[in-house]
Amino acid sequence: MESNNGQNGDAPVIAIDGVTKTYQMGEVAVHALRGVSLDIHSGEYVAIIGASGSGKSTLMNIIGLLDRPTSGTYAIRGQEVGQLGKSEQADIRNREIGFVFQRFNLLPRTSAQAQVELPLFYAGITGTKARRRAVDALTRVGLGERIDHRPDQLSGGQQQRVAIARALVTQPSLLLADEPTGALDSKTTAEILDLFDELHAQGLTLVVVTHEHSVAERAGRVITVSDGAIVGDALAAQPTPAVTATNGFGSVLPTLSPARTAVAQ
Ligand SMILES: Nc1ncnc2c1ncn2[C@@H]1O[C@H](COP(=O)(O)OP(=O)(O)O)[C@@H](O)[C@H]1O
Ligand SMILES: [Mg+2]
Repeated sequence: MESNNGQNGDAPVIAIDGVTKTYQMGEVAVHALRGVSLDIHSGEYVAIIGASGSGKSTLMNIIGLLDRPTSGTYAIRGQEVGQLGKSEQADIRNREIGFVFQRFNLLPRTSAQAQVELPLFYAGITGTKARRRAVDALTRVGLGERIDHRPDQLSGGQQQRVAIARALVTQPSLLLADEPTGALDSKTTAEILDLFDELHAQGLTLVVVTHEHSVAERAGRVITVSDGAIVGDALAAQPTPAVTATNGFGSVLPTLSPARTAVAQ
């Protein structure tokens, strides 16, 4: 498939409509998502918040093409992707999406540079070009001086920066992060959130799953998930320019309430 052929430039980056996900556990059906509809536009910074077990990771895994909906549709920039085969999904994931996890998911005994080069290898980019792009990505997250360090030689926050560089090195249009600060202390959390602010200001579309209000508050839009359904979708009081530039969200934004005021830390 050619990169932009058949894609509508005005379409949301993410358009999810009536998505359900049911896990069959023997006799028991677990309804992890019960009909989620959601549009996310280019340049938005969206937080998905909800209690443990509410379906946040299930939703992120579907958005990130790591899993498929049981029913409903999912389009990326107007192209239906929810029911594509595994290898087609992997192609789109490699091209469009960067994914960051709570536990960093780095390879042990492997330098930061080699970790960050790996997605390029899968994209067919090797040698000097791959090396240069890995170093650029590590520099972008503030680790230009640490490219030879292995995970055991880096702090938790630095390891998460390596994971973010690895997610960004393929120049995705969408960065997804599932509880990215869940394993970090509050100071390191603040540093990672500052980095997300910078990336957002540079035009990246960000979706961050969290159960912490202090993390969600940094986003321009907060979606609340409860028991497999969206129960709240609100713009922050001071929406980012990228959000105000987007011309309305139609029926996907039932509430436009002001964001909660800052929670005292
Ligand atoms: N692979 C799976 N198999 C069976 N049940 C699952 C699986 N993944 C998640 N679930 C169930 O789906 C529900 C939502 O889980 P999850 O999306 O991980 O929630 P959250 O990320 O909000 O904590 C939970 O009840 C969980 O136990
Ligand atoms: Mg989760």
